[in-house]
Amino acid sequence: MSDRSDDLDANGSGESGGAGTTFLAGRRAVVTGGGSGIGAAVSRRLAEAGASVLVVDRNAESAERVAAEIGGEARIVDLSDPDAAAEVGPGADVVVNNAGMQHVAPVHQFPPDTFSRMLAVMLESPFRIVRAALPGMYDRGWGRIINVSSIHGLRASPYKSAYVTVKHGLEGLSKTIALEGASHGVTSNCICPGFVRTPLVERQVAEQAVLHRVPEAQVVEDVLLARTPVKRLVEPDEVAALAVWLCGPGTSSVTGSSFPIDGGWAAH
Ligand SMILES: NC(=O)c1ccc[n+]([C@@H]2O[C@H](COP(=O)([O-])OP(=O)(O)OC[C@H]3O[C@@H](n4cnc5c(N)ncnc54)[C@H](O)[C@@H]3O)[C@@H](O)[C@H]2O)c1
Repeated sequence: MSDRSDDLDANGSGESGGAGTTFLAGRRAVVTGGGSGIGAAVSRRLAEAGASVLVVDRNAESAERVAAEIGGEARIVDLSDPDAAAEVGPGADVVVNNAGMQHVAPVHQFPPDTFSRMLAVMLESPFRIVRAALPGMYDRGWGRIINVSSIHGLRASPYKSAYVTVKHGLEGLSKTIALEGASHGVTSNCICPGFVRTPLVERQVAEQAVLHRVPEAQVVEDVLLARTPVKRLVEPDEVAALAVWLCGPGTSSVTGSSFPIDGGWAAH
């Protein structure tokens, strides 16, 4: 059972939370893919809220840069190896499953190795990290699991079979963790971004621009944002703000949910 029936003062420090407070002081956070894009923004915001952050990434240079910037620690891990992934879980109070990649191809041409690799990095590793983190969270009666899913965790798009499959799987995993963790003070939620201004999307824009022989700005406007009412990309820091809110005061009843942050894309 949780020893904190009310997390209005989650760290017992008397902090009331909110902007500028360190409500995560004394908490340890693990952020996968923390070296770039959304993961880097989440790492920064968690550190600002007082957490010690383990920046997990296969890219040593970027992970070490972010860790140095926020006074955290870098851990260089290739999450396509779920055994290696499991080693970052123990001791975490907050787990942000964020590392990911995209591959675009029709199902009948989709490389099976790429499909398997995306499953390992984006679904099996989150399972292994959380599996390793939960016993400590249960002992301490508090934990936050944040799964960076996607609007593709809720909807499909053609040519993204592995991504859509993995993100739908992550949604199921997150809800199951929420059900099991509820009596231990552990919440689990998904964040479902639309198109966010990160290297992952910038690569897709560049590829599409070549494919369609149009300028990159036109790809953003005509392809990416075609059915997005808010005509701009989401910023990584906006996603990070939502992630950190989910770790903040007054969120112990927010669990098993999915939070689109997509400029209204899924409202159609
Ligand atoms: N950018 C978007 O528009 C968008 C939209 C919805 C969801 N997402 C999700 O957000 C997450 C982060 O995406 P991003 O846009 O910040 O991407 P990004 O490419 O900027 O960052 C991804 C990070 O994950 C790391 N990574 C990839 N494979 C890894 C592996 N095998 N082991 C360890 N680290 C690995 C990369 O090195 C990189 O630092 C992903 O799960 C992605 O699916 C992104």
